[in-house]
Amino acid sequence: MLRTHTCGELTAKQIGQKVTLCGWVHDRRDLGGLIFLTLRDRYGRTQIILDPEQCPHAHTIAEKVRAEFVLKVTGEVKKRAPGQEKPEQTTGEIEIAPEKLEILNQAKTPPFETDAEVRNEDLRLEYRYLDLRRERMQENLKLRHDLVLTIRNFFNQENFWDVETPIMVKGTPEGSREYLVPSRIHPGKFYVLPQSPQQLKQLLMLSGVDKYFQVARCFRDEDLRGDRQPEFTQFEIEMSFCEQDDVIDVIEKCFRELTEKHAAEKNWQKFLENNRFVKLTWQEAMERFGSDKPDLRFGLELKDLTKISRNCGFGVFEKSERVFGLCVPRAKGEFSRKQIEELEAVAKQNGAGGLAWYRIGEESGAVGKNASEEFRTELKKIFEAQDGDLILFGAGDFLHATEPLGAVRLKIGDALNLRNPDDWAYLWVTEFPMFEVKDDGTVQAQHHPFTAPHPDDREKLDSDPMSCRALAYDIVLNGVELGGGSIRIHDPKLQRKIFDIFGMSEEETQAKFGHLLKAFEYGCPPHGGCAMGLDRVVMLFADEPNIREVIAFPKNQVAADLMLGAPSEMPEKELSEQNISVKLSEKDE
Ligand code: AMO
Repeated sequence: MLRTHTCGELTAKQIGQKVTLCGWVHDRRDLGGLIFLTLRDRYGRTQIILDPEQCPHAHTIAEKVRAEFVLKVTGEVKKRAPGQEKPEQTTGEIEIAPEKLEILNQAKTPPFETDAEVRNEDLRLEYRYLDLRRERMQENLKLRHDLVLTIRNFFNQENFWDVETPIMVKGTPEGSREYLVPSRIHPGKFYVLPQSPQQLKQLLMLSGVDKYFQVARCFRDEDLRGDRQPEFTQFEIEMSFCEQDDVIDVIEKCFRELTEKHAAEKNWQKFLENNRFVKLTWQEAMERFGSDKPDLRFGLELKDLTKISRNCGFGVFEKSERVFGLCVPRAKGEFSRKQIEELEAVAKQNGAGGLAWYRIGEESGAVGKNASEEFRTELKKIFEAQDGDLILFGAGDFLHATEPLGAVRLKIGDALNLRNPDDWAYLWVTEFPMFEVKDDGTVQAQHHPFTAPHPDDREKLDSDPMSCRALAYDIVLNGVELGGGSIRIHDPKLQRKIFDIFGMSEEETQAKFGHLLKAFEYGCPPHGGCAMGLDRVVMLFADEPNIREVIAFPKNQVAADLMLGAPSEMPEKELSEQNISVKLSEKDE
């Protein structure tokens, strides 16, 4: 190595020793005669003192040095002058007086300082290699490494095998648009980048692997949000001869270990029920919180008001299939008309036509003016409310009556600081609906097409498929979906039936899933699994607001890599070798 020590390890114990350090100039202070440099590397920072009398040659070089230059410094470890010590830092008692200073490389003035909070995220992403020099980003990289190590060790101990699956595959439809890779050797044909290793891990169960795990890259061409990237990482498992609770048990054990090791300071045990993560069925989660990934750190639960709304005098409610409400006690916080309008905007973004409200004891607003006395008294009773408390309503079919209110609930939680960052509320959501109806009216699997129906609902697959529940489960932390999984279908006849319910023809089924149905004919064990979004897990453990902060080289909000300049145009020659001709629509030109 070019160095004898790192910049983070020298203490008073080494005083008098001759050492060599390498690193970046974090800062430089020229006090007229004396020059102080802070030398930085991954491990820490060390002060370098250059006295023109003691080391004129090194001092002359130091005059030329600027921030982010790369240096090699050889000299003696000295005790800092009295009053200069910084005992809170590992290297705070010492400094290096160089006899030799070498500039290993110069640096242009960086577009932002290594210590500064940079607001322009695109600038950070364009210069990500500089952004990653920042202490917070280094900590995030380290935490991610530590978490992955714990995960790998955990699953190894639980007897899972790490098996790699290919990146160039055939489509694994799980609901998102896929990224395509053209084949040069097979003109006109494409590989698909996997949305997840779903089908392959199922096939590994057929192969007798029994317990599989992988830290796997996944690719989905979908609208991006703070917790979504076009390429992301899952840590995921599959098990043979298991039932739902076996998968839940092992994943829960993994999260307990991760939390104990890497987030011990969080209050997570107070949210346990009988020493286990809370479990809610999807139905209950929706009814109580208006969300399939509820944040359990605070109350403000929804109440079903359908029964008392039937003849309440307010037409909108009377006509609605379901009516739900939530109550914000005045004691927690008062919402002005303007703030209620902001809440209404949230409800609308989440599918509601509007947000009806009523302030207990007042006759203002549409509900206050129109709804019967009896309804209003009943409301007060149901919510155990006081005069001045605010009731917000959701009305429509079950989803429209609950989901918008769920989003409003979170907004209120933020506004009233009810989502305590020191609290960690894990939970399992189970018994998801098996199917959902897409915007175009077609039916699709809510989890994915390989998910098994709940045994109690199997009979309903023919008569009333939309009311079937699935053996599917999600793990949630503080309102973030960390992961999800299911018990899979292992019977080819049942799998065909599900494709049938999607309205897929035999031809389409064969083209898309023929390989899987063929494999199922050769002795498929009952199996199930789960996949966690690693980026989301690291985000929460790092207390970061979005997953880009915990990915070394993420894409920006519009799926571009600003550092590499990807995606980019391709030379005509390369395109024709791949048998591709590009035809842009007018709007894209
Ligand atoms: P699912 O689609 O629910 O399940 O994904 C599992 C977890 O992966 C994370 N995730 C994402 N993270 C970042 N960016 C994205 N675009 C993104 N999409 C998903 C989430 C999510 O909970 N094959 C099934 C799992 C199984 O059944 O075993 C699957 O992929 O944290």
